[in-house]
Amino acid sequence: MNVLGIESSCDETAASVVKDGKKILSNVISSSLKFHQKYGGVIPEIASRKHLESITAVVESALSEAKLKLKDIGLISVTCGPGLLGSLVVGISFAKSLSMALDKPIIGVNHLESHIFAGFLEGVTVKFPFTALLVSGGHTSLYEVDDYDKIKLLGSTHDDACGEAFDKVAKILGLGYPGGPVIEQAAVKGDPKAIKFRCSNTKGIFDFSFSGIKTAVLYYVRDTGCVTRCPLPVTRDIAASFQESVCNVLVEKSLAACKLKKTKRLVVGGGVAANNYLRKKFQASVVKSRIEVIFPSKSLCMDNAAMVAGFGYHLFRKGKRSGLDLGVNLD
Ligand code: KG4
Ligand code: ZN
Repeated sequence: MNVLGIESSCDETAASVVKDGKKILSNVISSSLKFHQKYGGVIPEIASRKHLESITAVVESALSEAKLKLKDIGLISVTCGPGLLGSLVVGISFAKSLSMALDKPIIGVNHLESHIFAGFLEGVTVKFPFTALLVSGGHTSLYEVDDYDKIKLLGSTHDDACGEAFDKVAKILGLGYPGGPVIEQAAVKGDPKAIKFRCSNTKGIFDFSFSGIKTAVLYYVRDTGCVTRCPLPVTRDIAASFQESVCNVLVEKSLAACKLKKTKRLVVGGGVAANNYLRKKFQASVVKSRIEVIFPSKSLCMDNAAMVAGFGYHLFRKGKRSGLDLGVNLD
Protein backbone atom coordinates (compact mmCIF):
# COMPACT_ATOMS: atom_id res chain seq x y z
CA MET A 1 0.00 0.00 0.00
CA ASN A 2 1.27 3.49 -0.90
CA VAL A 3 0.84 5.90 2.00
CA LEU A 4 1.01 9.66 1.57
CA GLY A 5 2.49 11.27 4.68
CA ILE A 6 1.98 14.96 5.50
CA GLU A 7 3.96 16.80 8.19
CA SER A 8 3.53 20.46 9.17
CA SER A 9 4.02 20.60 12.94
CA CYS A 10 6.79 23.23 12.98
CA ASP A 11 8.70 25.02 10.22
CA GLU A 12 8.99 22.15 7.72
CA THR A 13 6.23 21.53 5.20
CA ALA A 14 6.83 17.92 4.22
CA ALA A 15 5.19 15.22 2.14
CA SER A 16 6.34 11.71 1.39
CA VAL A 17 5.14 8.49 -0.19
CA VAL A 18 6.14 5.30 1.62
CA LYS A 19 5.29 1.82 0.34
CA ASP A 20 4.16 -0.82 2.84
CA GLY A 21 5.54 1.12 5.79
CA LYS A 22 9.18 0.61 4.84
CA LYS A 23 10.16 1.73 1.34
CA ILE A 24 10.54 5.48 0.90
CA LEU A 25 9.44 6.39 -2.65
CA SER A 26 9.77 10.14 -2.10
CA ASN A 27 10.55 12.48 0.76
CA VAL A 28 10.07 16.19 0.04
CA ILE A 29 10.76 18.90 2.62
CA SER A 30 10.33 22.64 2.26
CA SER A 31 11.56 24.60 5.27
CA SER A 32 10.62 28.15 6.21
CA LEU A 33 13.74 28.33 8.43
CA LYS A 34 15.27 31.33 6.66
CA PHE A 35 12.21 33.45 7.46
CA HIS A 36 12.65 32.73 11.20
CA GLN A 37 16.41 32.95 11.52
CA LYS A 38 16.63 36.66 12.25
CA TYR A 39 14.27 36.19 15.22
CA GLY A 40 16.39 33.37 16.73
CA GLY A 41 13.47 30.91 16.80
CA VAL A 42 10.36 29.82 14.93
CA ILE A 43 7.60 32.45 14.70
CA PRO A 44 4.28 30.51 14.64
CA GLU A 45 2.38 33.01 12.47
CA ILE A 46 5.10 33.01 9.81
CA ALA A 47 5.32 29.20 9.92
CA SER A 48 1.60 28.65 9.31
CA ARG A 49 1.52 31.16 6.43
CA LYS A 50 4.49 29.46 4.77
CA HIS A 51 2.81 26.04 5.15
CA LEU A 52 -0.24 27.42 3.37
CA GLU A 53 1.89 28.77 0.54
CA SER A 54 3.87 25.59 -0.06
CA ILE A 55 1.78 22.57 0.89
CA THR A 56 0.17 21.99 -2.53
CA ALA A 57 3.49 22.10 -4.38
CA VAL A 58 5.19 19.91 -1.76
CA VAL A 59 2.52 17.19 -2.04
CA GLU A 60 2.63 17.38 -5.87
CA SER A 61 6.43 16.98 -5.79
CA ALA A 62 6.18 13.99 -3.44
CA LEU A 63 3.76 12.29 -5.84
CA SER A 64 5.76 13.05 -8.97
CA GLU A 65 9.06 11.95 -7.34
CA ALA A 66 7.35 8.69 -6.41
CA LYS A 67 6.06 8.49 -10.02
CA LEU A 68 2.54 8.08 -8.74
CA LYS A 69 -0.84 9.76 -9.13
CA LEU A 70 -3.28 10.56 -6.34
CA LYS A 71 -5.37 7.55 -7.34
CA ASP A 72 -2.42 5.27 -6.39
CA ILE A 73 -2.50 6.41 -2.76
CA GLY A 74 -4.21 3.99 -0.37
CA LEU A 75 -3.96 5.95 2.88
CA ILE A 76 -3.25 9.50 4.01
CA SER A 77 -1.26 9.82 7.23
CA VAL A 78 -0.93 13.25 8.80
CA THR A 79 0.73 14.68 11.92
CA CYS A 80 -1.97 15.87 14.30
CA GLY A 81 0.29 17.02 17.14
CA PRO A 82 2.11 18.04 19.20
CA GLY A 83 3.41 21.16 17.47
CA LEU A 84 2.34 24.65 16.50
CA LEU A 85 -1.44 24.94 16.40
CA GLY A 86 -1.81 27.00 13.20
CA SER A 87 0.82 24.93 11.39
CA LEU A 88 -0.84 21.64 12.32
CA VAL A 89 -4.23 22.93 11.15
CA VAL A 90 -2.82 23.53 7.65
CA GLY A 91 -1.56 19.94 7.28
CA ILE A 92 -4.64 18.35 8.83
CA SER A 93 -7.07 20.41 6.71
CA PHE A 94 -5.16 19.58 3.55
CA ALA A 95 -5.08 15.86 4.42
CA LYS A 96 -8.80 15.81 5.25
CA SER A 97 -9.69 17.53 1.97
CA LEU A 98 -7.68 14.95 0.05
CA SER A 99 -9.26 12.12 2.00
CA MET A 100 -12.73 13.43 1.23
CA ALA A 101 -12.04 14.16 -2.46
CA LEU A 102 -10.36 10.79 -3.10
CA ASP A 103 -12.54 8.79 -0.74
CA LYS A 104 -9.40 7.33 0.87
CA PRO A 105 -8.87 6.61 4.57
CA ILE A 106 -7.01 9.05 6.77
CA ILE A 107 -5.07 8.56 9.98
CA GLY A 108 -3.76 11.23 12.35
CA VAL A 109 -0.47 10.35 14.04
CA ASN A 110 1.57 11.66 16.93
CA HIS A 111 4.68 13.53 15.79
CA LEU A 112 6.89 12.25 18.63
CA GLU A 113 5.89 8.63 18.12
CA SER A 114 6.63 9.00 14.38
CA HIS A 115 10.17 10.15 15.27
CA ILE A 116 10.64 6.94 17.29
CA PHE A 117 9.99 4.79 14.21
CA ALA A 118 12.06 6.86 11.73
CA GLY A 119 15.00 4.51 12.38
CA PHE A 120 13.14 1.62 10.78
CA LEU A 121 12.62 3.15 7.33
CA GLU A 122 16.00 2.21 5.94
CA GLY A 123 16.18 -1.55 6.17
CA VAL A 124 16.39 -2.11 9.94
CA THR A 125 13.68 -4.55 11.02
CA VAL A 126 11.46 -3.57 13.94
CA LYS A 127 11.78 -5.96 16.85
CA PHE A 128 9.75 -5.23 19.97
CA PRO A 129 10.29 -4.44 22.77
CA PHE A 130 12.82 -1.63 22.65
CA THR A 131 13.72 1.53 24.54
CA ALA A 132 13.46 4.83 22.69
CA LEU A 133 15.07 8.20 23.32
CA LEU A 134 13.45 11.15 21.60
CA VAL A 135 15.58 14.29 21.51
CA SER A 136 14.07 17.13 19.51
CA GLY A 137 13.63 20.88 19.66
CA GLY A 138 10.45 20.65 21.69
CA HIS A 139 10.74 17.34 23.57
CA THR A 140 13.18 15.08 25.38
CA SER A 141 11.67 11.78 26.46
CA LEU A 142 12.43 8.15 27.15
CA TYR A 143 9.93 5.47 26.18
CA GLU A 144 9.38 1.77 26.59
CA VAL A 145 8.01 0.52 23.26
CA ASP A 146 6.18 -2.82 23.15
CA ASP A 147 4.31 -2.33 19.88
CA TYR A 148 3.30 0.42 17.44
CA ASP A 149 0.37 1.25 19.68
CA LYS A 150 1.95 0.37 23.03
CA ILE A 151 4.33 3.20 23.78
CA LYS A 152 4.84 4.02 27.44
CA LEU A 153 6.49 7.23 28.60
CA LEU A 154 9.24 6.57 31.16
CA GLY A 155 10.33 10.15 31.69
CA SER A 156 10.71 13.51 30.03
CA THR A 157 12.20 16.94 30.54
CA HIS A 158 11.05 19.14 33.41
CA ASP A 159 11.97 22.33 31.60
CA ASP A 160 13.85 22.99 28.34
CA ALA A 161 14.01 20.31 25.68
CA CYS A 162 17.47 19.15 24.68
CA GLY A 163 17.39 20.80 21.22
CA GLU A 164 16.00 23.94 22.81
CA ALA A 165 19.03 24.03 25.16
CA PHE A 166 21.36 23.75 22.14
CA ASP A 167 19.42 26.60 20.50
CA LYS A 168 19.58 28.83 23.60
CA VAL A 169 23.27 28.19 24.25
CA ALA A 170 24.03 28.99 20.60
CA LYS A 171 22.14 32.25 21.06
CA ILE A 172 24.16 33.10 24.20
CA LEU A 173 27.34 32.42 22.23
CA GLY A 174 26.12 34.46 19.26
CA LEU A 175 26.33 31.47 16.93
CA GLY A 176 22.89 31.72 15.29
CA TYR A 177 19.90 29.45 14.85
CA PRO A 178 19.30 26.51 14.84
CA GLY A 179 21.80 25.92 17.60
CA GLY A 180 22.47 22.19 17.36
CA PRO A 181 24.56 22.10 14.19
CA VAL A 182 26.53 25.28 15.05
CA ILE A 183 27.31 24.10 18.59
CA GLU A 184 28.39 20.74 17.21
CA GLN A 185 30.65 22.44 14.69
CA ALA A 186 32.19 24.84 17.25
CA ALA A 187 32.74 21.93 19.65
CA VAL A 188 34.88 19.97 17.19
CA LYS A 189 37.93 22.11 17.99
CA GLY A 190 37.02 22.69 21.65
CA ASP A 191 38.03 20.79 24.79
CA PRO A 192 35.05 18.91 26.29
CA LYS A 193 36.81 18.84 29.67
CA ALA A 194 37.70 22.53 29.75
CA ILE A 195 34.70 23.65 31.82
CA LYS A 196 32.61 21.65 34.29
CA PHE A 197 29.01 22.24 33.21
CA ARG A 198 26.51 19.89 34.84
CA CYS A 199 22.92 19.04 33.97
CA SER A 200 20.67 19.38 37.03
CA ASN A 201 19.50 16.32 38.90
CA THR A 202 15.87 15.28 38.54
CA LYS A 203 13.48 13.55 40.89
CA GLY A 204 12.48 10.89 38.38
CA ILE A 205 15.45 8.79 37.25
CA PHE A 206 14.36 8.99 33.61
CA ASP A 207 13.49 12.67 33.63
CA PHE A 208 15.74 15.41 32.26
CA SER A 209 16.51 19.03 33.04
CA PHE A 210 18.46 21.32 30.71
CA SER A 211 17.49 24.74 31.93
CA GLY A 212 20.17 24.83 34.66
CA ILE A 213 23.06 24.05 32.34
CA LYS A 214 21.88 26.73 29.91
CA THR A 215 21.92 29.27 32.77
CA ALA A 216 25.36 28.00 33.84
CA VAL A 217 26.63 28.78 30.33
CA LEU A 218 25.05 32.23 30.52
CA TYR A 219 26.76 32.99 33.85
CA TYR A 220 30.07 31.60 32.61
CA VAL A 221 29.98 33.89 29.59
CA ARG A 222 29.03 36.86 31.77
CA ASP A 223 31.77 36.09 34.32
CA THR A 224 34.49 35.72 31.70
CA GLY A 225 33.74 39.32 30.78
CA CYS A 226 33.13 38.65 27.06
CA VAL A 227 31.61 41.96 25.93
CA THR A 228 29.83 41.11 22.68
CA ARG A 229 31.25 37.76 21.74
CA CYS A 230 33.73 35.40 23.44
CA PRO A 231 37.07 34.79 21.70
CA LEU A 232 36.86 31.77 19.37
CA PRO A 233 38.89 29.33 21.58
CA VAL A 234 36.64 30.14 24.57
CA THR A 235 33.50 29.70 22.47
CA ARG A 236 34.77 26.34 21.25
CA ASP A 237 35.54 25.14 24.80
CA ILE A 238 32.12 26.26 26.06
CA ALA A 239 30.37 24.50 23.16
CA ALA A 240 32.39 21.30 23.65
CA SER A 241 31.92 21.25 27.45
CA PHE A 242 28.18 21.91 27.18
CA GLN A 243 27.74 19.23 24.51
CA GLU A 244 29.78 16.75 26.57
CA SER A 245 27.60 17.15 29.65
CA VAL A 246 24.31 16.96 27.72
CA CYS A 247 25.40 13.89 25.74
CA ASN A 248 26.60 12.13 28.90
CA VAL A 249 23.21 12.56 30.55
CA LEU A 250 21.35 11.31 27.46
CA VAL A 251 23.55 8.22 27.22
CA GLU A 252 23.51 7.43 30.96
CA LYS A 253 19.72 7.66 31.32
CA SER A 254 19.00 5.76 28.12
CA LEU A 255 21.27 2.88 29.11
CA ALA A 256 19.80 2.87 32.62
CA ALA A 257 16.32 2.57 31.05
CA CYS A 258 17.47 -0.35 28.87
CA LYS A 259 18.92 -2.04 31.95
CA LEU A 260 15.85 -1.58 34.10
CA LYS A 261 13.44 -2.61 31.34
CA LYS A 262 15.77 -5.40 30.18
CA THR A 263 15.73 -4.30 26.56
CA LYS A 264 18.64 -4.96 24.24
CA ARG A 265 17.65 -2.41 21.62
CA LEU A 266 17.75 1.34 21.88
CA VAL A 267 16.32 3.64 19.22
CA VAL A 268 17.30 7.31 19.17
CA GLY A 269 15.27 9.85 17.18
CA GLY A 270 14.60 13.58 16.74
CA GLY A 271 16.76 16.47 15.52
CA VAL A 272 19.46 16.16 18.21
CA ALA A 273 20.02 12.54 17.11
CA ALA A 274 21.78 14.04 14.06
CA ASN A 275 24.64 15.07 16.38
CA ASN A 276 27.81 13.10 15.52
CA TYR A 277 29.31 13.44 18.98
CA LEU A 278 26.16 11.96 20.53
CA ARG A 279 26.08 9.15 17.96
CA LYS A 280 29.71 8.24 18.70
CA LYS A 281 29.18 8.38 22.47
CA PHE A 282 26.23 6.02 22.21
CA GLN A 283 28.10 3.61 19.92
CA ALA A 284 31.05 3.51 22.33
CA SER A 285 28.89 3.11 25.43
CA VAL A 286 26.79 0.18 24.22
CA VAL A 287 29.69 -2.09 23.31
CA LYS A 288 30.04 -3.60 26.79
CA SER A 289 26.34 -4.03 27.44
CA ARG A 290 25.75 -5.51 23.95
CA ILE A 291 22.85 -3.20 23.33
CA GLU A 292 22.02 -2.49 19.71
CA VAL A 293 21.63 1.23 19.17
CA ILE A 294 19.65 2.39 16.14
CA PHE A 295 19.87 5.89 14.67
CA PRO A 296 17.96 7.06 11.61
CA SER A 297 20.10 8.60 8.87
CA LYS A 298 20.61 12.30 9.58
CA SER A 299 17.96 13.49 7.14
CA LEU A 300 15.37 11.31 8.88
CA CYS A 301 16.32 12.66 12.33
CA MET A 302 14.87 16.05 11.35
CA ASP A 303 11.18 16.60 10.80
CA ASN A 304 10.03 14.75 7.70
CA ALA A 305 6.89 13.11 6.35
CA ALA A 306 8.39 9.69 5.59
CA MET A 307 8.26 8.87 9.30
CA VAL A 308 4.63 10.01 9.36
CA ALA A 309 3.69 7.82 6.38
CA GLY A 310 5.61 4.81 7.75
CA PHE A 311 4.15 5.00 11.24
CA GLY A 312 0.62 5.67 9.91
CA TYR A 313 0.79 2.51 7.79
CA HIS A 314 1.58 0.32 10.81
CA LEU A 315 -1.16 1.86 12.94
CA PHE A 316 -3.62 1.40 10.04
CA ARG A 317 -2.64 -2.29 9.82
CA LYS A 318 -3.54 -2.51 13.50
CA GLY A 319 -7.03 -1.25 12.69
CA LYS A 320 -6.59 2.39 13.67
CA ARG A 321 -8.00 5.16 11.50
CA SER A 322 -9.37 8.68 11.94
CA GLY A 323 -12.58 10.31 10.82
CA LEU A 324 -13.12 13.63 9.15
CA ASP A 325 -13.54 15.07 12.63
CA LEU A 326 -9.76 14.64 13.08
CA GLY A 327 -8.38 17.69 14.85
CA VAL A 328 -5.20 18.96 16.43
CA ASN A 329 -3.98 17.07 19.49
CA LEU A 330 -1.37 19.12 21.31
CA ASP A 331 -0.59 16.51 24.03
O1 KG4 B 1 13.12 16.99 15.54
P1 KG4 B 1 13.38 18.37 15.06
O2 KG4 B 1 13.80 18.54 13.62
O3 KG4 B 1 12.14 19.29 15.29
C1 KG4 B 1 11.30 19.17 16.39
O4 KG4 B 1 10.40 18.32 16.34
O5 KG4 B 1 11.58 19.92 17.36
O6 KG4 B 1 14.51 18.98 16.02
C2 KG4 B 1 15.01 20.28 15.89
C3 KG4 B 1 16.07 20.49 16.98
C4 KG4 B 1 16.61 21.90 17.08
O7 KG4 B 1 16.55 22.34 18.42
C5 KG4 B 1 18.05 21.78 16.61
O8 KG4 B 1 18.95 22.70 17.24
C6 KG4 B 1 18.38 20.36 17.01
O9 KG4 B 1 17.20 19.64 16.73
N1 KG4 B 1 19.50 19.82 16.21
C7 KG4 B 1 20.66 19.42 16.74
C8 KG4 B 1 21.50 19.07 15.64
N2 KG4 B 1 20.78 19.24 14.49
C9 KG4 B 1 19.55 19.70 14.86
N3 KG4 B 1 21.09 19.38 18.02
C10 KG4 B 1 22.36 18.95 18.24
N4 KG4 B 1 23.21 18.62 17.25
C11 KG4 B 1 22.83 18.66 15.94
N5 KG4 B 1 23.68 18.31 14.99
ZN1 ZN C 1 10.19 16.72 15.31
